[in-house]
Amino acid sequence: MSGIFCSLRQLSVTYARGNAVAALDRVDLDIKAGERLAIIGESGSGKSTLARALAGLLPDGAKVDGEMLWPGLGHPPRPGRDFGFVFQDPGTSLNPVLTIGEQIAEGARRHLGLGWKQASIRAEELLDRVRMPQPGKLMRAFPHQLSGGQRQRVAIAAAIAARPQLLIADEATSALDVVVQAEIVRLLDGLVREDGMTLLFITHDIALASGFVDRIAVFGNGRLVEAGPVRSVLSAPKSDYTSALIASHRDLATPPLIAEVLP
Ligand SMILES: Nc1ncnc2c1ncn2[C@@H]1O[C@H](COP(=O)(O)OP(=O)(O)O)[C@@H](O)[C@H]1O
Ligand SMILES: [Mg+2]
Repeated sequence: MSGIFCSLRQLSVTYARGNAVAALDRVDLDIKAGERLAIIGESGSGKSTLARALAGLLPDGAKVDGEMLWPGLGHPPRPGRDFGFVFQDPGTSLNPVLTIGEQIAEGARRHLGLGWKQASIRAEELLDRVRMPQPGKLMRAFPHQLSGGQRQRVAIAAAIAARPQLLIADEATSALDVVVQAEIVRLLDGLVREDGMTLLFITHDIALASGFVDRIAVFGNGRLVEAGPVRSVLSAPKSDYTSALIASHRDLATPPLIAEVLP
């Protein structure tokens, strides 16, 4: 599929009524079908608000202006079916009293109309796809028996159980150590390539994202600061804010992914 998956036109979100500052302020952005797009920005810049707006997960009372159009879908989006989500803390997206098998099978059952038996078979296949060892045994395990990285793999399996066209990962690797972070990024990258999914990779870590995404959209103070292909944003940032985000990562011990791009 080619073309535009989702178009945001002057999209604004304000959480509280009155004169509250917009958490998202007149954003114009196209998400291309099949692209891997990073949403970058410092804490509080509106990244998660964008994810929640796309997902229809804004809290009651939030005011939304502008438009979200879905030319790539052809119908209004069905959360959980058309998009999958992976959040920073798999503890909040995984239910502690359900087995790993049940968590993943539930999405397939509900959205694809499979029976439990069929859904369980699919869950086991998905555990294999997210490279979990011994998927059959793992089906009966509970989230607390897994490491943070393994829980995030399970959350990814659950997120793609209904074969969504768009995967939204909001700081999905931020709670993990650097090695596990790189493994999860590689996994996400592989899955979206294999399935032709569109990926929205939301992170404050421009170095991490720039190693694998196609385009970067930089957010600051609820506004879209700039958007473009990774190489152009990194080598010729249009704003001081973007330059500062890039500079702040040069000293860090994270894999120097941007070094591949910058001269
Ligand atoms: N549920 C909420 N109620 C009120 N304000 C919120 C809520 N969630 C986020 N905000 C505010 O909206 C702004 C953007 O937040 P957020 O989208 O979470 O940023 P980011 O994900 O980039 O850190 C911040 O000023 C934040 O305090
Ligand atoms: Mg956030």
